[in-house]
Amino acid sequence: MNSFSHYHGKLAQKLTPKRYKHSVAVAETALALAKIHKVPSGPAYLAGLLHDYARDLPDPILAELAKSAGIPADPVLDALPELWHGSVGAFLVEKELGLKHPQLLQAIRYHILGHPAMTDLDKVVFIADMIEPNRDFSGVERIREMAFKDLDEAMLLAFEQSIHYLLDKKQLIHPLMIEARNQLILTARLEGR
Ligand SMILES: [Fe+2]
Ligand SMILES: [Fe+2]
Repeated sequence: MNSFSHYHGKLAQKLTPKRYKHSVAVAETALALAKIHKVPSGPAYLAGLLHDYARDLPDPILAELAKSAGIPADPVLDALPELWHGSVGAFLVEKELGLKHPQLLQAIRYHILGHPAMTDLDKVVFIADMIEPNRDFSGVERIREMAFKDLDEAMLLAFEQSIHYLLDKKQLIHPLMIEARNQLILTARLEGR
């Protein structure tokens, strides 16, 4: 694995300055969350930094790369191709940057929709993307505060926020996000929380 500054340089070539600034903020937030929740800090920082590696690629390129990466077709993703940037980002980070860390790649893959089998590293990156300091949507403070106390509660708030937003916009909701939310609730019940 190269130094962090090596990946900063590679990323800066891929993204607009605004998206690059967002990515650095996500990396720093992921690092702060990782320390609190006892997640390995190197993978958290790097996954945060690189989570949007494919975000500025045009939709047709994303769709084409998804196909060549063997990522299964999906009717919701086909309708909203920018959502491919998680899986395609993980594919390109491995292929172009040579990062083969499976947990780090998974955190990039799951950062948009979530997944019922998310690890704490996945959750740290997902939440960091949502609460980094440049984010200012209504409700962000509640999630930000919870993120440093209880990761699963913060994930639930984050999913609720996203699902409300998508309902208001009459937008498609990917089933993975619903499954991820259900799993958090089922786990909390099993653990008597
Ligand atoms: Fe993203
Ligand atoms: Fe992002």
